Amino acid sequence: MARYTQLQNMSLRGRRVFVRVDFNVPLKKNGDHYEVVDETRILGALPTIQYITEAGGRCILASHLGRPKGGPEAKYSLEPVAKVLSQKLGQDVILTDSCIGDGARGLSRQMRDGDVLLLENLRFEPGEESNASELCQKLQELCDCYVSDAFGTLHRAHASTHGLAKLFEFKDRGMGLLVQKELAYLEPLKDRPQKPFVLVMGGAKVSDKIGILEHFLDKVSTVIIGGAMAYAFLRAKGYEVGKSFCQDEQVNLAARLLKSAAARDIQMVLPVDHVVASSMDDEAGAQVTESESVPDDKMALDIGPRTVEKYAAALEGAETIFWNGPMGVFEKPAFAKGTFEMARHIAQSKAKKLAGGGDVAAAIAASGREEEFDFISTGGGATLEYLEGKPLPGLRILDQDNRLGI
Ligand code: 3PG
Repeated sequence: MARYTQLQNMSLRGRRVFVRVDFNVPLKKNGDHYEVVDETRILGALPTIQYITEAGGRCILASHLGRPKGGPEAKYSLEPVAKVLSQKLGQDVILTDSCIGDGARGLSRQMRDGDVLLLENLRFEPGEESNASELCQKLQELCDCYVSDAFGTLHRAHASTHGLAKLFEFKDRGMGLLVQKELAYLEPLKDRPQKPFVLVMGGAKVSDKIGILEHFLDKVSTVIIGGAMAYAFLRAKGYEVGKSFCQDEQVNLAARLLKSAAARDIQMVLPVDHVVASSMDDEAGAQVTESESVPDDKMALDIGPRTVEKYAAALEGAETIFWNGPMGVFEKPAFAKGTFEMARHIAQSKAKKLAGGGDVAAAIAASGREEEFDFISTGGGATLEYLEGKPLPGLRILDQDNRLGI
């Protein structure tokens, strides 16, 4: 059983608290500047920030954004995030010009109790992703203690999520409120979901989901499959999928999973009709198929109405539902109905309803049903790896029993 120092047990007053957050948020260009499209991850970090400032701590926030190539790039600046933060917190949040160096050091020394500083994108420093000890030491100079609240980045062993944490004693390397909340929901889901447990999987590739499917094979009663990954399963069962996105190696994986599921009496629920078109851009040409098979010149882009009914029936009686991945190309109105209808059916179920691990959070937000879910994880890959049972480096380094510091 891991033991962690919780934020609530840390000494904060008058101290500079380095908080690793996950502000890797989608941005869009508006004229000559960028704007935050989805604030979910910023909102998720607010309780920890407010807790620290109210306790008289000095909050130094640090995050990556996107995948810059180890140097500054305007499109990956955290400036739009600083703006949103200032508004939400009702106080000035100053953005440093670099996450290390004289500027950041000077500003960190001038901070007063309750102040909030945001360091510029950590990945502008090449040492971040290589977990370089030099960068860890420079970051350490800025602060007196360390808090991990970047749930979505816990699967990365980077300088700010791993090497830096190691430089602090356990009493000064703690877990923030967002990570605590994510674990409070995801840990029971991973180890002991209340049965009947229904897993709703979507998205593009079977290979991305195989770990989670395999982890849940001895816990799940029903697996509902939508999105592009469904076509690999249909092909494995001998159906024609036309031009639908589906690679051969995915079909082999799907066939293996169907076999494992059958051996355990798990119900694998697949589409019985689709919304098809000649391409993703052919919204005007969208039509519903008669059966599982997709015509040669078409690609399937959403589940059809009979499939929605079948999936809704398969949700009945569930005690736990975990939803990972949209049912179709929900960003396009002609192919969004299946995803939004599933959001509605899941939201209306009496089961404990959880979601996470990629695009599904955006799909639920677009359906307007976020409030009806018990929990939507802020993590993408981190949520999937956690649920697969993989050790997360950013979490392991906080564990007081991990004396080896690995
Ligand atoms: C995410 O969005 O999943 C996290 O912020 C991690 O980002 P990365 O995949 O670029 O490391």
